[in-house]
Amino acid sequence: FELIIDTADLDGIKECDDILNVQGVTTNPTILTKTGKPAEQAIQDIIDYLRPDQKLFVQVVATDYESIMDEARYIAQLRPENIYTKIPVTHPGLKAIKQCAREGIPTLATAIYSSDAAFMAAHNGANYLAPYVNRMCNYGNGVQDVIDLIDMLAIQDSDTKVLAASFKNVDQAHQLIAAGAQALTLPPDVALNLVAHLGTQFAVDEFSANWERAYGRTTLRA
Ligand code: E4P
Repeated sequence: FELIIDTADLDGIKECDDILNVQGVTTNPTILTKTGKPAEQAIQDIIDYLRPDQKLFVQVVATDYESIMDEARYIAQLRPENIYTKIPVTHPGLKAIKQCAREGIPTLATAIYSSDAAFMAAHNGANYLAPYVNRMCNYGNGVQDVIDLIDMLAIQDSDTKVLAASFKNVDQAHQLIAAGAQALTLPPDVALNLVAHLGTQFAVDEFSANWERAYGRTTLRA
């Protein structure tokens, strides 16, 4: 399982990376604009922060095939390894995903709203698929559609991994982890809410109070 953080905000990345076992960061054009920095700077700051073994996913902005390929080749050389080009599954995007596979450029097929488009992107050679779970919920049962996708890939023995994206709450994340999604990209608030049960703090407060009352200190050893 891979936990990816869906933000370009360094504080958010650091907060999650400090507490959780984070395997990488996803960005998209909107996410990069939110930093208020020039895009190249925002990307470089994330690269400077990440360990070499943590993955970075950067999306193309161009929409025609030749320009997508230019941007994919540019993105691929931003780091020596663990750099993935995100390409939306438009028709030019699907063509580019196929070409990237030929050139050895690792890809994440993104802006996915259907299990069928996702499956075809996998068949074109995408390394990861990013179905937009919460946005898919606007059109039906997004969680179930992604569970179908996981089954479709498994039954066809595909090597392509599902990196489920666009989460708005912990329940969506829970259901897809339970269904076997190989990776999730979560905004920092959703990632941190997975490990933020008030009962845990209540239990710890109770342990501390009982200990201090009995032994007059707050640590195991005097
Ligand atoms: C990640 O790869 C996607 O770009 C992202 O999860 C989209 O999420 P949104 O629906 O919150 O924009």
